[in-house]
Amino acid sequence: MSDLLHLEVSPLGEHSISRSISKEFLATYKANNPDAVIVTRDLAIDPVPHLDGETINAGYTPEADRPASMATKHEARLTLAQEVIDAKHILISTPMWNFTVPSVLKAWIDQIIIPGHTTVSGKVTIIEAQGGSYAEGAPRAGWDWETGYLKQVFTSLGATDVEVILSEFGLAGVVPALANFIDNKNASIAAAKKAAQTRAAA
Ligand SMILES: Cc1cc2nc3c(=O)[nH]c(=O)nc-3n(C[C@H](O)[C@H](O)[C@H](O)COP(=O)(O)O)c2cc1C
Repeated sequence: MSDLLHLEVSPLGEHSISRSISKEFLATYKANNPDAVIVTRDLAIDPVPHLDGETINAGYTPEADRPASMATKHEARLTLAQEVIDAKHILISTPMWNFTVPSVLKAWIDQIIIPGHTTVSGKVTIIEAQGGSYAEGAPRAGWDWETGYLKQVFTSLGATDVEVILSEFGLAGVVPALANFIDNKNASIAAAKKAAQTRAAA
C-alpha cells in the first residue's frame, strides 16, 4: 500500500524538464504529507521488461502448469499492477518522444494493465515535458498522441481524477527553429511548476 506511486521516465537526469517539475510536486507533497509512503520507480534507471510471450501466456496457463520462468515473470507483473491498484495517488513524470510516450513508459503500461484485474481508484497526476507546442493554432496542433493516450490509459482503469500538467517548448534554445520561443519555454515551465505545487497540496 502506498500513498504515492511516483514514476520517472526521462534519462536526462539533472537536465530533465519533467524531473524538474516533478521535483516541485514532491517537495510540496512531502511537506504536506510527512509520513506518506512513497514508492518510486525510475524507469530510466530500472526499466521494466517488455511483455513477452511467456508473460502473456501466463494469464492463460493454470498456475500449476506454469514453468518457473513463467511464474516469475507473472509474479513480477502482478507486483507492478498491485503498486498501481494500491496507490492513493499516481504521479507520472515523462517527456514526449516522437509524439507519444517513451517506450520505457509504454512497457510499464503494458505490464500494469491486466484486464479485469487492474483498477485505479486514486488520483493520477501526469507531468509531461514537450519540446514544442501542440496547442490549438500551432502548426502541429493535433500531433500530440501522448496526452489523450495517457488520460485514456488511466480512465480505462477507473480513474476519475486525472490531471495533466504540461510544459511546452522545451527545445527552445536547443534547436534553431524554436529560437524565438525561449520566453514561452520559461513561462511554461514556471506555470507547470506552480500547477504541480497546487496539485500536490490539494
Ligand atoms: C528521442 C526524442 C524524441 C523527441 N520527440 C519529441 C516530439 O515528438 N515532440 C516534441 O514536442 N518534443 C520531442 N522531443 C523533445 C522533448 O520532449 C523535450 O526535450 C522534453 O523537454 C524532454 O523532457 P525531459 O527534459 O524531461 O527529458 C524529443 C526528444 C527526444 C530525446
